Amino acid sequence: MVVVYTLLILFLIESVFGGVSYNWTYTYDASSTAWNPLKGLVPYYYGTASQPQVNFPHSMENQYFPMKNLMSGPNSFDFSSIDTVLRNTASRNHHAIVRVYVDYPGKNLSLSVPDFLWNGLTLYSGGSGQGLFPDYNNQTLINAMVTLIQALGRAYDGDIRIGFWQVGFLGHWGEWHTSPNSSYFASSSYQSQIIAAFTSSFARTKLQLRYFAVTGNYNPTSLNVGFHDDSFFQDTYGASWMFYNTSVTVGAMNQWRSQPIGGEVRPELMPCAFASNPVTACGSITALTPLDWPTCVQLTHSTYQWLFYAFSTPGYTGSDYNRAVNGSIMQGYSFYVSRITATEMTCSGLSHVMRIAITMSNAGIAPFYYPLILNVKAVDTTSSSPDVYKSISVPISNQLDQISFVYSFDIAVQTNGVIQFSIWLSSPNLVGSQAIVFAVSGANTSGIIQLPTVSIGSCAMVSSSASCTSYMASAQANGTQGTSYASSSNSGNFSDPCLSFVTFTTTTSTTATKNNCPSVPMNTMMLMNLFALIFLCIISTI
Ligand SMILES: *[C@@H]1O[C@H](CO)[C@@H](O)[C@H](O)[C@H]1NC(C)=O
Ligand SMILES: *[C@@H]1O[C@H](CO)[C@@H](O)[C@H](O)[C@H]1NC(C)=O
Ligand SMILES: *[C@@H]1O[C@H](CO)[C@@H](O)[C@H](O)[C@H]1NC(C)=O
Ligand SMILES: *[C@@H]1O[C@H](CO)[C@@H](O)[C@H](O)[C@H]1NC(C)=O
Ligand SMILES: *[C@@H]1O[C@H](CO)[C@@H](O)[C@H](O)[C@H]1NC(C)=O
Ligand SMILES: *[C@@H]1O[C@H](CO)[C@@H](O)[C@H](O)[C@H]1NC(C)=O
Ligand SMILES: *[C@@H]1O[C@H](CO)[C@@H](O)[C@H](O)[C@H]1NC(C)=O
Ligand SMILES: *[C@@H]1O[C@H](CO)[C@@H](O)[C@H](O)[C@H]1NC(C)=O
Ligand SMILES: *[C@@H]1O[C@H](CO)[C@@H](O)[C@H](O)[C@H]1NC(C)=O
Repeated sequence: MVVVYTLLILFLIESVFGGVSYNWTYTYDASSTAWNPLKGLVPYYYGTASQPQVNFPHSMENQYFPMKNLMSGPNSFDFSSIDTVLRNTASRNHHAIVRVYVDYPGKNLSLSVPDFLWNGLTLYSGGSGQGLFPDYNNQTLINAMVTLIQALGRAYDGDIRIGFWQVGFLGHWGEWHTSPNSSYFASSSYQSQIIAAFTSSFARTKLQLRYFAVTGNYNPTSLNVGFHDDSFFQDTYGASWMFYNTSVTVGAMNQWRSQPIGGEVRPELMPCAFASNPVTACGSITALTPLDWPTCVQLTHSTYQWLFYAFSTPGYTGSDYNRAVNGSIMQGYSFYVSRITATEMTCSGLSHVMRIAITMSNAGIAPFYYPLILNVKAVDTTSSSPDVYKSISVPISNQLDQISFVYSFDIAVQTNGVIQFSIWLSSPNLVGSQAIVFAVSGANTSGIIQLPTVSIGSCAMVSSSASCTSYMASAQANGTQGTSYASSSNSGNFSDPCLSFVTFTTTTSTTATKNNCPSVPMNTMMLMNLFALIFLCIISTI
């Protein structure tokens, strides 16, 4: 008799609930992402608190600071010049790129070397028209720099108004060389002192060094520091000493996977960089030969480049303008959502769990280097119940090599609700009204993908005897193989086709126990079965 009852029970629980399921797909299109933060082409700091008329998309401004403006004695600092720049750039919804220098060729050295360091400091001649530069192997000067870097770290590490901090300090423009008088540049041990001061003082703000092969006594790959190519599009690849080739030589060609690459487009090549034929166009204005822009971006994995010409008047016009915007967008990250699904996972009476699954990849050429978060909001348009927010962080490891990841959010909603889901990316490092716009066709520049509303009905019911049978077979096979297996669920769990307990505990024999009294949601179509079930439960326990 018991055998007969068991078969009847199995028949009855072959009815399970199938929930609503929605499925949206998106086409890749980066054309709405030109203003995305922390990437692209960059102008110099405007030099004012107001927003001038600028006819080119951008999200950052870069500014140099002479050491003298920041330090008036061995322990006396004045950061008001940095504060002003950060306040003004952030008020325009821009990040600042910061660099401190001690010698700026063409400018009087006394304007950048602090007065208290001047007397007794040995000075050398730079190239023609470049003026003087200081002895970068002077321990008193290096000590003052280290003290200043530590104070800057205390004041600014993690300041979200700073996009990237270029190490600077040593060499012409803080660019880690004294060419053409190269023999007087800082030795490795002095370089190391500056690098150590930066890496121990800045843990959150992203740092960048000028040369892959000028890193003191450090192996560049051991440093949490990116690099900047300040002769981009001219000295980026080709000869062995060039930026990309050097990264290969020192084994740091994968540094971009965790640390940002930036730089400055070679100024002579700026006006012709986005001509239909840059080699021809540049040939008529400079003796320098341009490289291929996409190749420069792809080899270096550039996130941003300074290019002040784009922001000048008239700057790029016509097709050059469009190619320049394209050349800006192709740098850095580009988040592509290929699919969003909304699937009902569980249902019991008034409460349903919807799973929003977002398939997203970074289709760009570099990660977003600061913390990144994917968010979902659910608004019930029929009730005044509070909006539900959920978020998942997107690590850099999920942003490499164009690989897609699925991010799932389980959200409880109510029966008879009409739910509007929306999704967006955020970061604690965004300033002002910045938004990370998805690279999808028809993207909203608010950065938000608002899904069509989803209606939540009462708990539905479908038959799935086939899936239940294969589920049992699979569980049984696993049990036979000696895998300890236990499963339990509530009766509204659509992932469990048998709405049951299944346990396998022994290695040699297989035991399947199904709870004979599954609790099922009230549903008229199930009522008959339920009565039969209760009846059978009573019988079988006798
Ligand atoms: C969504 O639709 C696509 C294409 O129509 C299909 O391949 C995919 O299996 C669907 N996904 C879900 C979860 O329904
Ligand atoms: C640089 O400035 C100092 C101090 O103002 C001045 O004495 C010197 O003549 C200047 N040098 C040049 C080359 O202008
Ligand atoms: C280093 O510079 C300081 C001034 O900043 C000077 O007093 C000192 O003599 C210099 N040392 C050497 C070795 O040149
Ligand atoms: C380098 O500096 C030294 C010292 O000022 C000077 O004698 C020499 O001419 C400079 N060399 C070049 C190539 O400028
Ligand atoms: C530098 O790298 C580029 C790009 O990979 C390559 O074409 C070129 O041959 C390299 N140069 C040298 C000297 O290896
Ligand atoms: C840039 O232009 C190329 C060639 O037209 C195109 O394939 C690419 O998708 C564009 N990239 C962006 C980021 O717009
Ligand atoms: C963009 O998104 C915002 C916020 O979700 C919405 O108010 C606006 O209507 C959307 N614009 C377009 C063009 O879809
Ligand atoms: C049985 O094991 C396979 C492989 O580990 C797994 O994919 C499957 O989900 C298991 N079946 C059940 C019912 O747990
Ligand atoms: C639904 O059932 C599956 C398979 O038994 C189980 O892995 C999952 O944890 C259950 N989910 C809930 C929300 O109970």
